Amino acid sequence: MSKRIIIGISGASGVIYGIRMLEMLRAIGGVETHLVMSRYARMNIEIETPYTPQDVEALADEVHNFSNQAASISSGSFKTDGMVIAPCSMKTLSGIVNSASDSLLVRAADVVLKEQRRLVLMPREVPLHVGHCKLLYEAAQLGAVMAPPMPAFYNQPQTIDDLINHSVGRVLDLFDLDTGTLKRWEGLQSQSAKPQENEEADESKTTHKVFGVN
Ligand SMILES: Cc1cc2nc3c(=O)[nH]c(=O)nc-3n(C[C@H](O)[C@H](O)[C@H](O)COP(=O)(O)O)c2cc1C
Repeated sequence: MSKRIIIGISGASGVIYGIRMLEMLRAIGGVETHLVMSRYARMNIEIETPYTPQDVEALADEVHNFSNQAASISSGSFKTDGMVIAPCSMKTLSGIVNSASDSLLVRAADVVLKEQRRLVLMPREVPLHVGHCKLLYEAAQLGAVMAPPMPAFYNQPQTIDDLINHSVGRVLDLFDLDTGTLKRWEGLQSQSAKPQENEEADESKTTHKVFGVN
């Protein structure tokens, strides 16, 4: 195994991001995965996906109990390449920012930060109040990478899976892991793809294009 990554799944909407990450890491191989899920993550897996928590656990190399503060990933002496929390609830984000390590999920993230390893959060909430925005800012100041699952459209996604895979693929890029599934932007391919002069200023034309109205 050349890499060891902790995958945390919290109880925000979008648990499929963490699940897909485990699936992709299993598919590319060479990464030892350590999984920790919160209680609400388990509930949301049942609510939002066709998986059971046990199906998700089977995708990881090691599974740690949310309440087990004595797990390997609770100590900085256990070396890892970092951690992703996908998705990250506002509650877990708050715990991380305040080092309120009352669960293994938050403790493992705190350890990753103190050891100056890579912590990538996929925070998910909408809309955001100023308290959420402050937490995002403070987590970034502490060194965490904020990677909210905001879909990209330049790669012309056709399915929900395309949207999920792209967000997950971009996060794995941050660990130098290439899933081989990312449609990467290579620049404009042809002259015709470039906006024509005055096109951007023509509001009615833009509206028609967006909504597909003739
Ligand atoms: C179906 C469902 C969707 C939720 N979506 C979100 C969300 O997108 N963001 C969020 O911060 N909390 C969300 N929550 C609330 C969290 O699950 C709740 O705050 C929980 O205490 C988070 O704990 P955890 O971070 O330990 O998982 C959701 C809860 C449910 C049941």
